[in-house]
Amino acid sequence: MANPWWLLHRIIWCSTLTTLLTIHGMPPPSPVQCNETGCTLYNSYGVWGDRKDCHVPKVIYPTTEEELLLAVANANKNKLKVKVVTKFSHTIPKLACPTQSGNAILLSTEKYNSCVEVDAANLVVTADAGIGLRALIDRVEEAGLSLVAAPYWEGDPLLNAAKVSLGVLGVISKVTLSLEHGFKRSITYNFTDDGDIEDEFMDHAKKHEFADITWYPSRHTAVYRYDDRVPLNTTGDGVNDFIGFQSNSILISKSVRATEKALENARNVNGKCAMAASFVGVKKLNANGLKNNLIFTGYPVVGHQGKMQTSGSCLYSSTTRIDNSCAWDPRINGLFFYESTAIFPAQKFADFIRDVKKLRYIKPDNFCGVDIYNGFLIRFIKASGAFLGQSEDSIVVDFNYYRADEPSTPRLNQDVWEEVEQMAFFKYGAKPHWAKNRNLAFLNVQKKYPNFNKFVAAKRQLDLQNMFSSAWSDEILFGKEAAKEEGCALEGQCICSEDRHCSPDKGYLCQPGLVYKEARVCRGSGRCFANSSATARVTGLSGAAVGYTSAVGGTSRATGFSGATIWSTSVVGTSANGIVTATATATTTANGGNSKVNAIDELGKLVWRIHAFLLLDGVSFRIKTFGSNHTCVREQKNAEANSTWLVKN
Ligand SMILES: *[C@@H]1O[C@H](CO)[C@@H](O)[C@H](O)[C@H]1NC(C)=O
Ligand SMILES: *[C@@H]1O[C@H](CO)[C@@H](O)[C@H](O)[C@H]1NC(C)=O
Ligand SMILES: *[C@@H]1O[C@H](CO)[C@@H](O)[C@H](O)[C@H]1NC(C)=O
Ligand SMILES: *[C@@H]1O[C@H](CO)[C@@H](O)[C@H](O)[C@H]1NC(C)=O
Ligand SMILES: *[C@@H]1O[C@H](CO)[C@@H](O)[C@H](O)[C@H]1NC(C)=O
Ligand SMILES: *[C@@H]1O[C@H](CO)[C@@H](O)[C@H](O)[C@H]1NC(C)=O
Repeated sequence: MANPWWLLHRIIWCSTLTTLLTIHGMPPPSPVQCNETGCTLYNSYGVWGDRKDCHVPKVIYPTTEEELLLAVANANKNKLKVKVVTKFSHTIPKLACPTQSGNAILLSTEKYNSCVEVDAANLVVTADAGIGLRALIDRVEEAGLSLVAAPYWEGDPLLNAAKVSLGVLGVISKVTLSLEHGFKRSITYNFTDDGDIEDEFMDHAKKHEFADITWYPSRHTAVYRYDDRVPLNTTGDGVNDFIGFQSNSILISKSVRATEKALENARNVNGKCAMAASFVGVKKLNANGLKNNLIFTGYPVVGHQGKMQTSGSCLYSSTTRIDNSCAWDPRINGLFFYESTAIFPAQKFADFIRDVKKLRYIKPDNFCGVDIYNGFLIRFIKASGAFLGQSEDSIVVDFNYYRADEPSTPRLNQDVWEEVEQMAFFKYGAKPHWAKNRNLAFLNVQKKYPNFNKFVAAKRQLDLQNMFSSAWSDEILFGKEAAKEEGCALEGQCICSEDRHCSPDKGYLCQPGLVYKEARVCRGSGRCFANSSATARVTGLSGAAVGYTSAVGGTSRATGFSGATIWSTSVVGTSANGIVTATATATTTANGGNSKVNAIDELGKLVWRIHAFLLLDGVSFRIKTFGSNHTCVREQKNAEANSTWLVKN
């Protein structure tokens, strides 16, 4: 049989039909949810970059290659767009969303996973495209072999297009991978100073076959992973059960999210740093989740390649713990974050690290937000012939950070992440990981791949009618900038060029980067806007000076009023909705002064309030703006504070 144009495979006869995976407890939800009106496709975080749902009329679950052939042939006949989706949908950009027009189907590989053929004599394994990595690895290890990393597919001229094809060439039905004789690995993590990462990383990568580095910038800590293959007869039966991918109690995941959210809303940098310090501490104590046996007892941890190379135990939560799940499960209000992943040519990477260190030097605590997740994870990849792969030896950096529940909510230190992102992708020309990242990372991506045109030629050859392409996949593959809407930079849908792309109402304006001056980032002006129109009116109040008292010995250092006890005055001003009374008060508390400016409407209702608490150093204030909530909290130093300063800063 001649291969149809859209089926990229090597025919392998497959005799066994076995179910390899049994899933229990609370595994991730299916990414495709259907009812009588149609289906909705999600990624594994439950939310796409643009936060818009992806509706598709129908999903098909082929179980064999014949069914797959039939489904594609029918779609072709009926001029339907087709996208393939996997069981877990781990691609974060909207590549898998077919089209909004309705003439489309999804092909899920969830049930196309029955066949794995290990060819021990030739050291290859061939599997149905829907097979999960865990099931594949377990099969390979049972045969006394190990999967290292390299794909293997003899001679096909389209292989370099197909290896990284983003689903736009066709459906991959079978994959053949090369194997090696079984081996073990020995892993030690060295939590150490980050002083020389930029000089050390290359040596480290050369010395250890499976090296990586996790860098926690706010902690000034680098974790070097010494990871090498050792012979099978080396003692040890360890497991790499990476802490971030373990099942977590749903209550804990929710409370971590709630804490992070509260700290964000309160603009509480110190709280975030405390959180980062404690998380890094837990990882150090638990060796990031390495287990010698059932627990971690000491380095090195030695185990079979199949148990050490990859992890993801939360995907297979146990039946006995249905209160557990992956921490990011979209059903539980758990972790919700962005993932940025940039791939650098090795020789440019040291300068990138130096720039990030310069940015950190301005205020190290600004980096705590990323250290709550996994800091900067630095990995090494070898050059590949894949047209959309890396044509040279490269360094990959992943960093995750808080994403707000609402797209319009600016995030703490978001300017820092935006500057790092733009530095990586535009100053150093890093390539975006195709399955992660926010939209801006893909701008002009095609110029970064020397073989991009060959990929496009292969796409034209295999799918002239663009059956496997959509507006969404075009947007990513061809790196086009979409129309710039209000607030688009807050979620990385654009790079800001005007304030309205940020959130001027909330004090976030479009400004240049601090180290990479060409960057354009949304930065909070440090000023809080409970209600900008009302705030402006208070500024003009005279006589509403708010003083403060020193916590030290109760000595009054206030200007504008005398005494350390209670002071208050009220004045009359106007607000957009009529007359308000603005009152300013200052009281002494055990920790220092508590100063407020209240705006009260004609019915006596509090419209908004700005209050300042003096902190123990005697000059820093924690200033909060209160509308119906405390919407903005910041800390500022001023030995001569008064109400004018208070509302202006
Ligand atoms: C069916 O799902 C769609 C989203 O795919 C949703 O908008 C609609 O309300 C659902 N209908 C019912 C009856 O649940
Ligand atoms: C950890 O790394 C530091 C810095 O490279 C080095 O001085 C130290 O010897 C290492 N510790 C171990 C246990 O390898
Ligand atoms: C492992 O096997 C090799 C031969 O394959 C032998 O030389 C070595 O001593 C063995 N090591 C241990 C710890 O048994
Ligand atoms: C500010 O207050 C005015 C009057 O109460 C109201 O109309 C306006 O929507 C408020 N603006 C914001 C950003 O809350
Ligand atoms: C205030 O906080 C509550 C509870 O977190 C929330 O439901 C409400 O939407 C918030 N209101 C505003 C105006 O942000
Ligand atoms: C309040 O402080 C500002 C400087 O922050 C100063 O310019 C202004 O004169 C002060 N106002 C009063 C009433 O002391």
